[in-house]
Amino acid sequence: MEKKFKRTLITSALPYANGPVHIGHLAGVYVPADIYARYLRLKGEEVLFVGGSDEHGVPVTIRAKKEGCTPQDVVDRYHNIIKKSFADFGISFDVYSRTTSATHHQFAADFFRKLYDDGKFVEMESEQFYDEQEGQFLTDRNIRGECPRCHNLDAYGDQCEKCGATLSPEELINPYNANSGNPLVKKKTKHWYLPLDQYQPWLEQWILNEHKEWRPNVYGQCKSWLDTGLKPRAVTRDLDWGIPVPVEGAEGKVLYVWFDAPIGYISNTKELCESAPEKWGTWQKWWQDPESRLIHFIGKDNIVFHCIVFPSMLKAHGDYNLPDNVPSNEFLNLEGDKISTSRNYAVWLNEYLEEMPGKQDVLRYVLTANAPETKDNDFTWGDYQARNNNELVAVYGNFVNRALQLTQKYYGGVVPECGKLTDTDRATLDEFKDVKQNVEKLLDAFKFREAQKEAMNLARIGNKYIADEEPWKVIKTDPERVKTIIYISLQLTANLAIAFEPFLPFSSKKLREMINMQDFRWEDLGSTELLKPGKQLEKPSLLFEKIEDSAIQFQLDKLEATKKANAAAAAKADPIKPVISFEDFEKLDIRVGTVLECEKVKKMNKLLKFLIDDGLERRTIVSGIAKYYEPEQLVGKQVCFIANLAPREFKNGLVSEGMILSAEDFDGSLAVTTLEHKVKAGSKVC
Ligand code: 2FM
Ligand code: ZN
Repeated sequence: MEKKFKRTLITSALPYANGPVHIGHLAGVYVPADIYARYLRLKGEEVLFVGGSDEHGVPVTIRAKKEGCTPQDVVDRYHNIIKKSFADFGISFDVYSRTTSATHHQFAADFFRKLYDDGKFVEMESEQFYDEQEGQFLTDRNIRGECPRCHNLDAYGDQCEKCGATLSPEELINPYNANSGNPLVKKKTKHWYLPLDQYQPWLEQWILNEHKEWRPNVYGQCKSWLDTGLKPRAVTRDLDWGIPVPVEGAEGKVLYVWFDAPIGYISNTKELCESAPEKWGTWQKWWQDPESRLIHFIGKDNIVFHCIVFPSMLKAHGDYNLPDNVPSNEFLNLEGDKISTSRNYAVWLNEYLEEMPGKQDVLRYVLTANAPETKDNDFTWGDYQARNNNELVAVYGNFVNRALQLTQKYYGGVVPECGKLTDTDRATLDEFKDVKQNVEKLLDAFKFREAQKEAMNLARIGNKYIADEEPWKVIKTDPERVKTIIYISLQLTANLAIAFEPFLPFSSKKLREMINMQDFRWEDLGSTELLKPGKQLEKPSLLFEKIEDSAIQFQLDKLEATKKANAAAAAKADPIKPVISFEDFEKLDIRVGTVLECEKVKKMNKLLKFLIDDGLERRTIVSGIAKYYEPEQLVGKQVCFIANLAPREFKNGLVSEGMILSAEDFDGSLAVTTLEHKVKAGSKVC
């Protein structure tokens, strides 16, 4: 049976304060969370919407090292930029704080200490990589070394960016400290683990049996974690940036960022409640009263932490409510490519507003219309322009503007009386009576994309009504009838201001000001008496403006420039391999050979087969350069080849007796090394 809750606590993932926020963040987490918070408030429900910056963790320290400043400088800067972006986009947090606040440090340390005192952690020693010169343990991301697969010398401890392999630091050849370059040794260290394996049966019951209504992507990911079997997770790290572990003998250790960040939801609530207890009551009311409902808005990479780890922490602590739902979105791509903070490939919110001033609602609209609710989606500037011009301008804006302009023109801005209704009038009014119920049903099910579509449908109804009724023509023959047409159009307009409030708050406010509608409630949606006859309206102005091709081209050019800059940066020469001895070099027998024959290899379209005169005899060498040469081009040429490489057999039985040397350009294309002038076949290359 469905539980009845008195109030709703909405949290949205705390973004890392190591860079500005982009459209992916907005689409995935903050716009849906804000729509939901605004919707519940409009319904008159008791709501608290929590946000804040996640200011600990390794990425902050990496950024600080890169920029030559302190981690605190980094988070101070980005916390302010992020907070301003959210405010600019109308994300209506009741509190937006940060995990470096004194309240949070104390709260998170106390939370850890309670679990520690209650014996909820397991203490374990393990061997971790250590930089002896710096006296420092390193996290996976701070360790680099040679990739065991592709031999890229700069692979990270968790991933090789060149071949894409997922790695663990143990797999790296010659691991070193990414910051100091020092070689690393293994050293024992002690950490505290949350034994998630012990929570597995409880989690299975709570998620898999009691929360079948969660989104399939969320439920599915949880199921797959549970099916694999949970393992204890370390909740402390050897790092000097974070909340010190409040236990004797834990010097130099901090709480793992994923342990302290979700506690930030609670400490930020506490900060708000203590700043205005008369308005908000106690933080315990929001977190511990069983009549409070907890909803986490997050992106898909956060699912395990919000559905498995944090609930286990809350369960271990006792007394806390668990999330009732975790509506997680998938990812948003940009023009077909992954959004990337490190590659600067994104639409940053602060830059967007400088380049598209006043167009917050356009972006909110497009991101919701194309929200990655069930699968990854793509943001394109072409779609952005089309949705603005064909939907916001041509449907919503056009209808409202017609209704308000005609009211000015015919009645000096005063709402006219409603006369006798025709069948069309009644059918139109009936249609928009359903909108409230339809939008509500969708919003209650976290289907924001469809809910907004339904609101836009109301504008379509209006647009069609006014276009079909043609009051500008009827005014010449039946001015009484026009009063009714305009009256109905104005009621629709007022309904639109309410229906769109959660989605497009800036435009709704502007519209409400134009129609002088101060008080409005969700309950009023569907009413045909929102604007009473005789009411004076303000002079209207356009709600939305057409976006020109030049503005879109500017954005596309900007993305293209970023891609080019990234390609240029990636086109740096590979680092030189470690030094070898002269004896090692001498082991290689490099010779000049004359190409006697060259042909393509059947069914292996990358390969060319050479017959080479090596000065002593003839040998076959196979080389992967078919894409770059026609066989005839190479016959008669002299090439350099490794003469003492062990023979290599291909799948089709072909054996290569050596390797022809080619240069690999930065774009991956190959050029055979040839000689300046002819020498005898078999000459040594030294
Ligand atoms: O993925 C992220 O951006 C994390 N900073 C989210 C943290 S959510 C919560 F736990 F604070
Ligand atoms: Zn690799």
